[in-house]
Amino acid sequence: MKPLVILTHPMPSGWVAGLEKEVRLVTGPANTANVSPDLQPHFAEAEGLLTWLIDRVDEALLAQMPRLKVVSNLAVGVDNIDLEACTRRGIAVGHTPGVLTEAVADLTMGLLLAVARGIPAAAADARAGRWGLWRPDGWLGREMHGATIGICGLGQIGQAVARRAAAFGLRVLYTSRRPKPKAEAAGGARRVPWATLLRESDFLSLHCPLTAETRGLVDARALRQMKPTAYLINMARGPVVDTAALTQALQQGWIAGAALDVTDPEPLPPQHPLYRLPNCLITPHIGSATETTRRRMADLAVANLLAGLRGEPLPHCANPAVYEQAP
Ligand code: GLV
Repeated sequence: MKPLVILTHPMPSGWVAGLEKEVRLVTGPANTANVSPDLQPHFAEAEGLLTWLIDRVDEALLAQMPRLKVVSNLAVGVDNIDLEACTRRGIAVGHTPGVLTEAVADLTMGLLLAVARGIPAAAADARAGRWGLWRPDGWLGREMHGATIGICGLGQIGQAVARRAAAFGLRVLYTSRRPKPKAEAAGGARRVPWATLLRESDFLSLHCPLTAETRGLVDARALRQMKPTAYLINMARGPVVDTAALTQALQQGWIAGAALDVTDPEPLPPQHPLYRLPNCLITPHIGSATETTRRRMADLAVANLLAGLRGEPLPHCANPAVYEQAP
């Protein structure tokens, strides 16, 4: 009998074709976050679980899935998954690093340019007939060349942003748990303390994972240390930034503006005050959203899942400690 795998939500047609031959699939609903209780009748039998970043996988869920061997998350971030609980239970957790690096770095530069040069407002003015005659002081933005970008988290994505930033003529500073000598040699990035990053960045770009250490990292105190002319770009996870503090910072001019591809909560409700601020640009978590990248993520998620079902090491495992456990 083929193993049973739960897809928490329907995948686009053809994206998990490689899976269909090998396993029996059960699919959850499209429009609810988390693992739907409708799937509960299948929990006892499931050996594999393919999750999206909107699905919480915690002890309470795992306790209902005694045969589960692998959780494969369609994302590089795994903050939605209790990794320790999975490791304790011998469940490997797969994720999708690498394949989305360039797409996320591209969007980072897109948002940075958009806020620095006021592209959304200028485009809206043109569309609304507010162009008028060209004038030398119309729609003046901020120069990227010669400015300083502070990258919080110099992992693969942070490094891809550093390469692009250097090509734009930005000075690159970063914070990271460990020094990254190769990245420093390649792109001239310089590791500095967090307080220096806050104080010196014209653009502060967040690329760290969401952990106990980074939750609320950009709070009122941090925002107050930034330059009043600085922009914040969040490409990491919403809760790395204190949303209420950021709203206040933007309303009161503690910083010049923000571009957020991730928010807390997600989705940010339509009535949220951040949408009404002209100095805040919000996109709906689209960092990796290119056809090519999302297909690669799906391929990798399938490869992780199949390896886990076979008891083989996952191509990309987020809890390698699971392999160190006594059998
Ligand atoms: C997206 O946010 C991801 O973690 O892949």
